[in-house]
Amino acid sequence: MLNIKTLLNSLSIEEKIGQLMQLAPFFFIGDLKKEVYGPIQALGLKEEEVFLSGSVLGIGNASEMRRVQEAYLAKSRHKIPLIFMADIIHGYKTIFPVPLAMSTSFNPDLIKKAARISALEAQTAGIHVTFSPMADLSRDPRWGRVVEGFGEDPYLNQVYAKAMVEGYQHDGIEKVGNLASCVKHFAAYGASEAGRDYNTVDISRLNLHQYYLSGYKAAIDAGARLVMTSFNIIEGIPATQNKYLLRELLKVQWQFDGVVISDYDSLRQTIEHGTSEDDYDAAKKAILAGLDIEMATSSYVLNLKKLIENNEVPMSLLDDAVYRVLKLKNDLGLFDNPFKGADEQKEREFVLSKENKKVALEVAKESMVLLKNDSVLPLKYTQKIALLGEYSKNPHTIGPWSWHGRSEDCTPLYQAISKYTKPLLVSDSNDLSTLSPSDYQALVESDVVVVAIGEHAIESGEAHSKTNLTLKPNDLRLIEDLSKLGKKIVLVLYHGRPVVLTDVEPKVHAILDTFFLGTMAQEAITETLFGFNNPSGKLTMSYPRSVGQIPIYYNYLNTGRPFKNDGNPFTSFYLDEKNTPLYPFGYGLSYSSFKLSNYRLSKQIIRESEPILVSIDVENASPIDGYETVQLYIRDYAAEVARPVQELKQFKKVFVKAKSKQTVTFELTVSDLVYVHSDLSTYADHGRFSIQVGNTSNQVHTTDITFL
Ligand code: IFM
Repeated sequence: MLNIKTLLNSLSIEEKIGQLMQLAPFFFIGDLKKEVYGPIQALGLKEEEVFLSGSVLGIGNASEMRRVQEAYLAKSRHKIPLIFMADIIHGYKTIFPVPLAMSTSFNPDLIKKAARISALEAQTAGIHVTFSPMADLSRDPRWGRVVEGFGEDPYLNQVYAKAMVEGYQHDGIEKVGNLASCVKHFAAYGASEAGRDYNTVDISRLNLHQYYLSGYKAAIDAGARLVMTSFNIIEGIPATQNKYLLRELLKVQWQFDGVVISDYDSLRQTIEHGTSEDDYDAAKKAILAGLDIEMATSSYVLNLKKLIENNEVPMSLLDDAVYRVLKLKNDLGLFDNPFKGADEQKEREFVLSKENKKVALEVAKESMVLLKNDSVLPLKYTQKIALLGEYSKNPHTIGPWSWHGRSEDCTPLYQAISKYTKPLLVSDSNDLSTLSPSDYQALVESDVVVVAIGEHAIESGEAHSKTNLTLKPNDLRLIEDLSKLGKKIVLVLYHGRPVVLTDVEPKVHAILDTFFLGTMAQEAITETLFGFNNPSGKLTMSYPRSVGQIPIYYNYLNTGRPFKNDGNPFTSFYLDEKNTPLYPFGYGLSYSSFKLSNYRLSKQIIRESEPILVSIDVENASPIDGYETVQLYIRDYAAEVARPVQELKQFKKVFVKAKSKQTVTFELTVSDLVYVHSDLSTYADHGRFSIQVGNTSNQVHTTDITFL
């Protein structure tokens, strides 16, 4: 049995510091003579320092992992294995829908399942840690990284972050097949000003605690073993060297005993932020603040020894950081098996297997949102269908942030549809004048036109912020031209963020919002178009009417002069736009038609340990079975600090058979009324609350209760 303390004490100071550096694989197996003049030199490292580092960022496959680990261990005095960390965000090679899409499922078990398969596949390549989940709440669709998150709601963030960690870590990180989870980006990366990536974050400590921390905290409570710092500043200090965040909050108050890792180069970037004079200063501030591993830079390796010799950093802080890294290695079982997981045969048999693709299809089918349907969907085989738009042939449905996912593994939409019926016309042109006369004739004869268009994967994700969220001009023209022809139009949308559909919406008859659904996207979409899958997703971010409304979110504060549409000009509104979004949080249609009625509460008074039962009947009057998500919101009318007009507290997704009705009941307890007060303590205020239940945030049944 390894004693980590004894091992730690046997390390030289250089060996200890080395554990805190993370490098890419090529440092270990590249042509070192060449590398010395390349990245190694850029980092100011010597070869022996490279071979003291503690972990690796990204790896190609099992055989590459073996080569790196072997090369490393051959030169390691204490044979301390490297940990292999990578971004397994929404799948390894079997790619699941992007997280924003999965969040619309309102089904944490499904998300857990996706994380589980992702872990099992990734581990065959010898990966031990995934930089996921991203629990950054965001209210700004201009920010390209919303694609990687779970939307605008703190409660949903909490629920999904927990589910993902449980999926990755499963029954313990020591077991083969499970990954350690690194929750990121701590903290409030999603609040960058104007939605521009890496930009300033300026939020009050109260708002940080009220809205932005819940996802990270839930991941940590679920056992996430690492936390990644964010690129942004918080209260003027970069997260990577923010003592309040890393030491006071994370390590002391939350008692997090795992590893804190920087984002790529974010330690050195503190010089650009203007909070570090140089690398020496950056390293000092970061270790004092509580950063353990630095990713892709060498500030610690080059400076920590001197900082300790100069008595500017106590040895105990270095020891604490190294202890955390060694403990993670030990908990992962790497001292017993440095090649843990890496398995070429399993890689061949299990990765992208039929079974895994089946799960990816199941997840994709639940991760899309029907935004509009004027009785045109589902399609019938007997209809004459024209299929237009770039995504009719383009198979790039993997979406951003996937190192190993390949478009070659995806089916183009026209092929998926051809399994059911042969479209009269398939064209990826968005210019009708380029159609041949016979194609144009086919278009004219068609009963319905499916238009598959949207963003490219590269338009969202890290460093891909946008100010224009409407569809591309050529796609808008295509819809305009089809509309002039009087065609019935089904818009199938592909994208990584909420888009502005204000001009398009009146011209089309149905909108199926599919984000990027991964490897099985087009199969899932086809099944949905033809009614073999009944869509059930609900939006987790508000879709603005125009970019000028951003930030826009359902859980806003009322203000002292809320808009009431009563003619009073001195209220909070725009002269040229409505306040409301085009499509609100929690919204999504189904092929079934659901009606919520008979809203009732078991009583109007709530007390500690005396919950209230909140019930509503969900009726499916249609001939189609379907799932409906019933959402419970609260509002605290008079609190110590102003509370949002709505806050999601619970939801239930229920299956309701055709022509039947069922009752959904929530147990509301005082814990649902708790919030963060001005002194950051959490408790519920006595007084009046509104309890709202609906199947979208903007249409709710409401009643008041009192907390005595
Ligand atoms: O995990 C990522 C992070 O989300 C963005 N920067 C790079 C990291 C490692 O690839």
